[in-house]
Amino acid sequence: MAASKHEIHSVLTEARVFSPPEAFARRAHIRSMEQYQQLWDEAAKDPDKYWGDRAREELYWKAPFQTVLDWKPPHARWFVEGKTNLAYNCLDRHLATRKDKPAILFEGEPGDRRSLTYGELSTEVNKLANALKSLGVRKGDRVGIYLPMVPEAAVAMLACARIGAVHSVVFGGFSAEALHERMNDAGAKVLLTADGGWRKGAVVPLLKNVEAALPHMPTMEKVVVLRRTGSTLELSGPKLVAWDTLVSGQSAECEPEWVESEHPLFILYTSGSTGKPKGVLHTTGGYAVNTSLTTRWVFDLREDDVYWCTADVGWVTGHSYVVYGPLMNGVTTILYEGAPTQPGPDRFWDIIERYKATILYTAPTAIRAFMRLGEEPVRKHDLSSLRLLGSVGEPINPEAWMWYRDVIGGGRCPVVDTWWQTETGCIMVSPLPGATPTKPGSATLPLPGIHAEILDREGNKVPRGQGGLLFVTRPWPSMLRTVYGDPDRYVRTYFNELPGMYFTGDGARTDADGYFWLMGRVDDVVNVAGHRLGTAEVESALVAHETVAEAAVVGRPDDLKGTALVAFVTLKQGHTPSDALKKTLAAHVGREIGAIARPDEIRFAEALPKTRSGKIMRRLLRDVAAGKQASGDTTTLEDLNVLAALRQNDD
Ligand code: WT7
Repeated sequence: MAASKHEIHSVLTEARVFSPPEAFARRAHIRSMEQYQQLWDEAAKDPDKYWGDRAREELYWKAPFQTVLDWKPPHARWFVEGKTNLAYNCLDRHLATRKDKPAILFEGEPGDRRSLTYGELSTEVNKLANALKSLGVRKGDRVGIYLPMVPEAAVAMLACARIGAVHSVVFGGFSAEALHERMNDAGAKVLLTADGGWRKGAVVPLLKNVEAALPHMPTMEKVVVLRRTGSTLELSGPKLVAWDTLVSGQSAECEPEWVESEHPLFILYTSGSTGKPKGVLHTTGGYAVNTSLTTRWVFDLREDDVYWCTADVGWVTGHSYVVYGPLMNGVTTILYEGAPTQPGPDRFWDIIERYKATILYTAPTAIRAFMRLGEEPVRKHDLSSLRLLGSVGEPINPEAWMWYRDVIGGGRCPVVDTWWQTETGCIMVSPLPGATPTKPGSATLPLPGIHAEILDREGNKVPRGQGGLLFVTRPWPSMLRTVYGDPDRYVRTYFNELPGMYFTGDGARTDADGYFWLMGRVDDVVNVAGHRLGTAEVESALVAHETVAEAAVVGRPDDLKGTALVAFVTLKQGHTPSDALKKTLAAHVGREIGAIARPDEIRFAEALPKTRSGKIMRRLLRDVAAGKQASGDTTTLEDLNVLAALRQNDD
């Protein structure tokens, strides 16, 4: 990474402030801090009025709601009596004015391109919706989606929403094991998938994974397979049907299912601090209102924007800010299938130049990777169409923020660093680009109606400047409603720290201006290259290997990925440490979960340091992993014993 003058600024002493450019602010939806403050005060004073007004503005309701919020902590119901349909709000309501406007501009990794207008997208969605019905999918049934980043991924989500089926997207980088674990938990009946997708010039073998998973998915009745990479599609059994064949004869008219506001929309699995991923459940009305609103305000959408969020639909960012948010707002959204540097280091900038993208929303890990590649690949392209930049997924270091602003944004585009989570459904803490002065590395301030607060474990407000735990102390429309199939876990995970208040799992502090600075997870969740992983998940994968006795996985700070995974492993009798075994174990984790979970470093130890009560001393291991203590490739029992003795009362 090029040494920069900005490196000397640590996050704690960051003093630079960037006010919204005047020309930007003049045309923005929210154009001043006074306006922001007024909205914030209104929302705090009368949340029912504030959210009720927003809900009526953002959505078409087939039946109106009377009750804005029914809050029986920790359970919320929003816009209770209302009925709506999210596919209708994304498609039908635009047809009068935007039928021929591009909804999706798609570019495959090999360079193939496709554009779908709102009219065409609507036709595709209705046909697939009818096809799903023909397979027996009914309101409330769960449908799995395991697709590459192709338009059909959006079509699949919208088709489910249209008929009231609950979708559960599984990221295409997840393995067969991870797929069947999630599909079984959701009790999915139908799976929409493809023969493969393109990534780094190679085919991701989605269908192969599905075939391996199928015998372990007892609830799965049908698998619909899209042809994306193969010239011929070989379907190996009676449960498999070709997408084209199934959809081709279907009618392009499908009456939307008008669902209750609290009807489940999707389940998305995310990592927690135990081994089993959590099925985060979002419902229709509240999620839709806040997704639509935050997309327009935070990205300051305009009719002629060409908006590009680079996230995969397998993550919540892809749900809210690739598919639902932009489409509800009727803008044109870019969908890119592949890797950021395929075939060359300038693929992103090439896409921005060719499509004249106006908004880019991506992750700090990608920005840091681009920084390493230097400015040359960027300079080759005309990025003058860009007017706004967004960041999401992990804290962005001030240096990467400055590079993003200066090199990608040419110093003229506001940068919005957006803090939120799978569970929050939508952006929670973020600048509003026409109003909020930004500071590199800070997500700035909570959006109107969002009561984000930094508290200690007793619930006291932590003084400005000091670190504490980040809570959301009042309900908001797009909050998760439960952990699918495990209502106790919902309460235990999010509402046990302080009763009735949502605990985010993040640490944070505010500065003298009340700006939020996120400090990372305080639980056993790590953020690897913007992907959330539970260390316990990786540990269970490791101990499932025949050679492993015990494993402890911790995060270590990494320049590129934010956090890298380090696994401490003890072996069963009769097995000896070797480099070959390290490779085997890393590959094993890749098979059990997916490549994103593969440890960056495996260290063999003779034993793991434990407290007297038998708890693994993770903080000690984190220090060792970070090279703060006992460095070296293998960590001996002696090293750890000595350290453990020193730290006995500490963990
Ligand atoms: C965790 C949520 C939000 C969609 C993508 C990730 C971290 C997310 C930021 C940010 C600092 C951030 C938090 C959070 N995180 N955005 N702008 N600044 N940290 O969703 O997989 O549910 O992960 O990502 O630690 O808890 P997710």
